Amino acid sequence: MRTVNLLVAIAAMAGIVTGQAQAWEALPDKAPEPADNPTTVAKVELGKMLYFDPRFSSTGSVSCFSCHNVMEGGDDHMPTSIGVHGQKGGRNAPTVWNAAFHSVQFWDGRAASLEDQAKGPPVNPIEMGMTSLGAVIDRVRAIPGYKPYFEAAFGPGEVVTMDNAAKAIAAYERTLITPGSAYDRFAKGETAALTAGQQRGMEALQAVGCTSCHQGPAFNGPALPIGTGFFMKFPTIAGSPYVTKYDLVADDGRFVSTSAEGDRHLWRVPTLRNLEFTAPYMHNGAVKTLPEAVRVMASTQLGQTLDDQQVDEMVAFLMSLSGPFPLQTMPRLPATPGDLLD
Ligand code: HEC
Ligand code: HEC
Repeated sequence: MRTVNLLVAIAAMAGIVTGQAQAWEALPDKAPEPADNPTTVAKVELGKMLYFDPRFSSTGSVSCFSCHNVMEGGDDHMPTSIGVHGQKGGRNAPTVWNAAFHSVQFWDGRAASLEDQAKGPPVNPIEMGMTSLGAVIDRVRAIPGYKPYFEAAFGPGEVVTMDNAAKAIAAYERTLITPGSAYDRFAKGETAALTAGQQRGMEALQAVGCTSCHQGPAFNGPALPIGTGFFMKFPTIAGSPYVTKYDLVADDGRFVSTSAEGDRHLWRVPTLRNLEFTAPYMHNGAVKTLPEAVRVMASTQLGQTLDDQQVDEMVAFLMSLSGPFPLQTMPRLPATPGDLLD
C-alpha cells in the first residue's frame, strides 16, 4: 500500500495561498469498482444478506449491521463500538455510507480495499470474535440455503469461499452511496440549492484551509488509485488546547499497524459527507457535536480560532453534504439446520 507524502498537501495548500479556485465536485452516481469485482445485482443481493446476518460472529449475535446501521448514519453513535460479549473496541465506527469512495479503509488506512476490509471484522476478537476465516466460511457452508445465492453471483462450482463472501459484501457497500445532496446539486450548477449562509460556509472552508486536506467529491482528499492512502498528521498543532481536552494523541494512528516512525499520528483524511448523522466524531469518538468538531479541526490542524458565525456557516454548509439515502430493505435469510453454535 502506498502513502501520499506531504508534498501533495503542500501543493494543495499552495493552491489556496495563491488563491487558485477550489474545484467543487459533485459525487459521481456510481462508486469505482475493481476490475476483478464488477458490481452485479446477484452479488449485491448476496452481500446484503451477509452484511445483515449475525450468524458469522462467535456468539451468533453481531453482524456488520450491528455497528454500521444503514437505516441511519451507517455507524453506531458510540465513541467506540461494542462487539461480542459486550467488549468495547478502541476506535469509533466510521460510516459505511460512501466508504466506497475511500482509496483505503479504516481510520489508519490499513486495508487497501472494501474486499480486504470485509475479512477483518469476523475474526477481530472484539468485534465478531470468530477464530479464523475458515471457521467463518464453515458457518456459511452450514447454511445450505446460501449456496444458490453464491452460484447466482459467482457461477456454479465450489464458490462458497471467503474471498467471494468479501467480494459480495464489497459490492453491496458500493451501493451505499449518496450522490444528489444539496451540495451536489449546487456543484452541478443549481445555484439555489445552497442558502447564502451555506455558500459563505463553503467559501470559509476553503479560505480557512480545510480543503487543503478535505478536498474532492467526498471531501476525503484527492482522487487516488484504490490502495493508495491520503494520510495527514492529526493533531498537526501539538500545542492546541483540544489535544489534552479530547485525548487526541493516546492512539498512535497509522504507526500501530505499520510500526514506521514516520506514521506516528498519521490518519487517513475522512469524508465530510453525512456528518449530521455520524456523531460522535474523530477516531476516538471524543468530540460530541459537529460545531465542536469544526472548532477542534481549525485549532489542531490550522492553528486558528474560528468565531461563532464562521462555525455556524461551516456547519450549515456541512449539512448540505447529507443524503439522499437510497431506501434500505431488510433481506430474507436462509435457515440454519440444527444448532448454530454446535
Ligand atoms: C463491533 C462493531 C463492528 C462490527 C461488527 C463491524 N464493524 Fe466495521 N468498523 C468498526 C470500527 C470500530 C471500525 C474502525 C476501526 C479502525 O479504523 O481501526 C470499522 C471500520 C469499517 C470500515 C471502514 C470505513 C472507513 O471509513 O474506513 C468499513 C467499510 C466497515 N467497517 C465495514 C464493516 C463490515 C462489512 C462488517 C461486517 C463484515 C463490519 N464492518 C463489522 C466497527 C464494526
Ligand atoms: C492537515 C489536514 C487537515 C485539515 C487542514 C483539516 N482536517 Fe479535518 N481531518 C483531518 C484528519 C486526518 C482527520 C481524522 C482525525 C482523526 O483521526 O480523529 C480529520 C477529521 C475531521 C472531522 C471528523 C470526521 C469524523 O467522521 O469524525 C471533521 C468534521 C473535520 N475533519 C472537519 C474539518 C474542517 C471543518 C476543517 C477546517 C476548519 C478541517 N477538517 C481541516 C485532516 C484535516
